[in-house]
Amino acid sequence: MLTIGIITGSTRPGRKSHLIAKGVAHAARENCGDRATFNVLDIADFDLPMLDEPVPAIMGDYRHAHTKTWAKAVDACDGFIFVTPEYNHSIPGALKNAIDFLYSEWSDKAAGFVGYGGIGGARAVEQLRLILAETRTATVRSQVLMTSQTSKA
Ligand SMILES: Cc1cc2nc3c(=O)[nH]c(=O)nc-3n(C[C@H](O)[C@H](O)[C@H](O)COP(=O)(O)O)c2cc1C
Repeated sequence: MLTIGIITGSTRPGRKSHLIAKGVAHAARENCGDRATFNVLDIADFDLPMLDEPVPAIMGDYRHAHTKTWAKAVDACDGFIFVTPEYNHSIPGALKNAIDFLYSEWSDKAAGFVGYGGIGGARAVEQLRLILAETRTATVRSQVLMTSQTSKA
């Protein structure tokens, strides 16, 4: 059975990504039956600092426990659904940082997208496709885009 990681895109207090990710996981389980397992990987749970590995991730020489924990979780996935908001026409820095920590764990796998934002999140997803091209992650053309309202936490 395939294991699909549903990756959250934001970490701020009052964020929506973990709530949307839970909804995506629920819908995916309803639609896919026992063909795949869907696990939410909330980047906030991994408490990653700003990238602090001395060796570029492509070398696979991870030194810190937080990197190894994150690598193990991502490596266990056969594919991904990224649930990302749009921040200033791109993805949140926290998601870019979480991606930058790893390399081979993203490679030769497929990724789909759920984007959201003030006007739908399409620009964030477009940027994420370019980033994932560099980690050798194949991206699916279809995507889900949602308009969200900004609210005070
Ligand atoms: C720093 C920041 C920048 C934003 N920039 C954009 C933007 O460029 N385009 C857009 O449509 N929405 C933008 N928004 C609105 C967010 O996409 C929207 O509030 C979304 O729900 C935030 O996701 P989150 O709740 O998971 O943090 C921005 C919000 C923040 C906090």
